[in-house]
Amino acid sequence: MNLQINSEKLDSELQELAAFSETLSPAITRIVFSEQDVAARAWLKQKCLAAGLAIREDAIGNTFARWEGTDANSGSVATGSHIDAIPNAGRFDGTVGVIGGLEAIRALQKSGFTPKRSIELILFTSEEPTRFGIGCLGSRLLSGVLKPERAQTFKDREGNSLEDLRRCAGFTGDLHSVQLQPGHYTAFVELHIEQGPRLESQKLDIGIVTSIAAPAGMRVSITGSGGHAGGVLMRDRRDAFVGAAEMAIAVEAAALSTGSPDSVATTGICRVFPGAVNSVPSQVNLEIDVRDSELARRDSIVAAISEECKAIGRRRQLEVELETVNSDAPAACDPAIIGLISNACGEAGLTHMKMVSRAYHDSLFMSHLAPTSMIFIPCHLGISHRPDEFASLRDISNGVLILAHTLAALASQ
Ligand code: GLV
Ligand code: MN
Ligand code: MN
Repeated sequence: MNLQINSEKLDSELQELAAFSETLSPAITRIVFSEQDVAARAWLKQKCLAAGLAIREDAIGNTFARWEGTDANSGSVATGSHIDAIPNAGRFDGTVGVIGGLEAIRALQKSGFTPKRSIELILFTSEEPTRFGIGCLGSRLLSGVLKPERAQTFKDREGNSLEDLRRCAGFTGDLHSVQLQPGHYTAFVELHIEQGPRLESQKLDIGIVTSIAAPAGMRVSITGSGGHAGGVLMRDRRDAFVGAAEMAIAVEAAALSTGSPDSVATTGICRVFPGAVNSVPSQVNLEIDVRDSELARRDSIVAAISEECKAIGRRRQLEVELETVNSDAPAACDPAIIGLISNACGEAGLTHMKMVSRAYHDSLFMSHLAPTSMIFIPCHLGISHRPDEFASLRDISNGVLILAHTLAALASQ
């Protein structure tokens, strides 16, 4: 099959999409259901319609752009990713898989390929945890890992409920209608930047994902006693922030204690109340992200963090409440899809390696629904979740080419 990837179009569409941002270039911020997110979704739908794809949106805003196959009764093949971006992010995380997925479909259309199975491009809602404190909202609901009843309790930091926010964004259906049944898709493949340095440093074109590390999210609420920064003597203090600081050190120590480079833990959010320089902090909320390629080791880190936080609370006379927001198993990718991606690399003359994804992706949850794998492309110095995130047009185009060949093979089965 002679596939022509339109690199100029990829480049211009990635740039156009980057303009939907709450922060100035090069920093991208696109929070789910914000004005910018809603506008970017509308822009993307126009691009999909222009490619002749039929659009369906579900109650959480997952958007499905479908190229109908000749065998309408067989399960479909899907690709896709996300367009939401954490505060102060770059412009390639997620978007390469969405715009790249669309370009893969357009390249297949132009080549004269006729799919037997339908091919769908999926835009997943809120892969990033920014607004509701939990990642992969759309794919969790699609796969049934997250129950609608729990999702209905979610609120953002301002107290707006997920239910109100999704309705304001135009997604008014019943959340119970989002979940798909196994068999709906026969395969899912996601194209994404690596978000690590291995491909670039080894001068390889493509990474083929064999498994996705297991993420967990924790919240710690710490209550002490506030007061005047001049008036309350040091010996009388129950400073919630100083306790929280010790807890952040304990988070780092728990990840380091396993001795494995695959164990990582991050205290990424620390909210201090009342947040005045001359007031002793009375309340702190921490949000902690823990990951490991091995589930038991990840769970042992979470347990160690919980124990340490409680011990620090007792020692400092602070009230400590712990909540596990999510605790997900790792995903094993499908050997047959890995084989197809590997064949496509061989035929295209692209070098490749198999690798574990340390970041999570919607693929983690799509793997509950269908055989799944991912195609990684290099990103400069492995930098991601930063404004200077960068993937070259050559690498993006290579990834799109491999995605297109893989989709063609899967849609022909
Ligand atoms: C995804 O953005 C992740 O945090 O792995
Ligand atoms: Mn991300
Ligand atoms: Mn991503």
